[in-house]
Amino acid sequence: MIRIGLVGLGFMGQQHFSIYQNMEQVELVAVCDKDPERVRDSVPAIAGNIGDATELKLDGIDRYTDFAQMIEDAQLDCVDICTPTPLHPDMTVDALQAGLHVICEKPMALSVSECDRMIAAAEASSRMLFIAQCIRFWPEYEVLADMLANGRLGRVVSARFTRHSPTPAWSSGSWLLDAELSGGAVLDLHIHDVDFILSLFGKPQGVLSRGGNLISSGPAVDHVLTTYLYDGFACNAEGGWVFPTDFPFERGFQVLGEKGFLELSPAKQPELQFYPFDGEPHTPEFTPGTGYERELEYFVQCMASGQAPTRITPQAAREAVAIVMAERESIRTGQVVSLE
Ligand SMILES: NC(=O)c1ccc[n+]([C@@H]2O[C@H](COP(=O)([O-])OP(=O)(O)OC[C@H]3O[C@@H](n4cnc5c(N)ncnc54)[C@H](O)[C@@H]3O)[C@@H](O)[C@H]2O)c1
Repeated sequence: MIRIGLVGLGFMGQQHFSIYQNMEQVELVAVCDKDPERVRDSVPAIAGNIGDATELKLDGIDRYTDFAQMIEDAQLDCVDICTPTPLHPDMTVDALQAGLHVICEKPMALSVSECDRMIAAAEASSRMLFIAQCIRFWPEYEVLADMLANGRLGRVVSARFTRHSPTPAWSSGSWLLDAELSGGAVLDLHIHDVDFILSLFGKPQGVLSRGGNLISSGPAVDHVLTTYLYDGFACNAEGGWVFPTDFPFERGFQVLGEKGFLELSPAKQPELQFYPFDGEPHTPEFTPGTGYERELEYFVQCMASGQAPTRITPQAAREAVAIVMAERESIRTGQVVSLE
């Protein structure tokens, strides 16, 4: 049994909590939140922009309000870090140095140098670091990755990704809305598509971004549209979280290849549809589930087998942060930022 301690019982920590309750190889032995209200016997559900929210029952689980205390006392194999992004580096380094495996939510950190500090700590330890870039594990996105890898889409002509959200209202102390703490929508939300694009197509030659603000000030962080410069095909991604409260969260993609068009569109039914040039439109088969479940199942298998994760490495998660920084630079200067 892998003994896990979970820190941060907000929206994402609650999602992870519920998943661990249904996993056989895992025992969630301890939880930690600095807010004592969130480590009571019963914790009200916090709804975010995706996934079901359920009330947490914490009886039988060791509870802490101090992270250092939890990693010292709880005899863990692994910590799962679901705290605000500025806390990811120190918590990750402390846990690795205490001899624990680490699952850390995305984005890995607020800066590339902080990512490097986390990677150095992982390399100096004999433990694994897994950054929860969940889109790589979301079934519809896996379909796209598989169809590109096995040639069913053929050579790519264009690829477009979108992620639009109402303004997040759930975060503790509204930390998400403070761009100094979260990096704004560009780092916190849009990074999902950045990471996925990197996983499909590798590092682009450069980025050209434009952005706008509605609730933030300073360099645009509320909404971004980026063109990723690759040879021979068009690729862009758009993301933002300042849509009106009643606007439902949506994500999607449209990829045109020489063998057909694959679309994930929240406005259509079925949402995922492949239109081949030589056949009938159809929904490719996929196993239902969420990326949250599948990423945690994957990393639990890595820990159980002793095999370091390959589907998302700390270096790949760092690369996504680096590309977001280049996009910000492009917004600031109005110029293409070269990545070569
Ligand atoms: N993968 C995804 O789709 C996804 C979605 C949302 C958030 N996230 C990420 O998950 C992380 C958490 O975001 P959230 O939306 O759950 O935030 P949140 O504000 O809902 O929850 C954060 C929790 O951490 C606790 N906390 C803060 N400081 C602490 C400390 N020093 N020690 C212990 N607990 C502390 C807070 O009290 C709160 O309960 C962020 O990195 C965010 O980017 C990922």
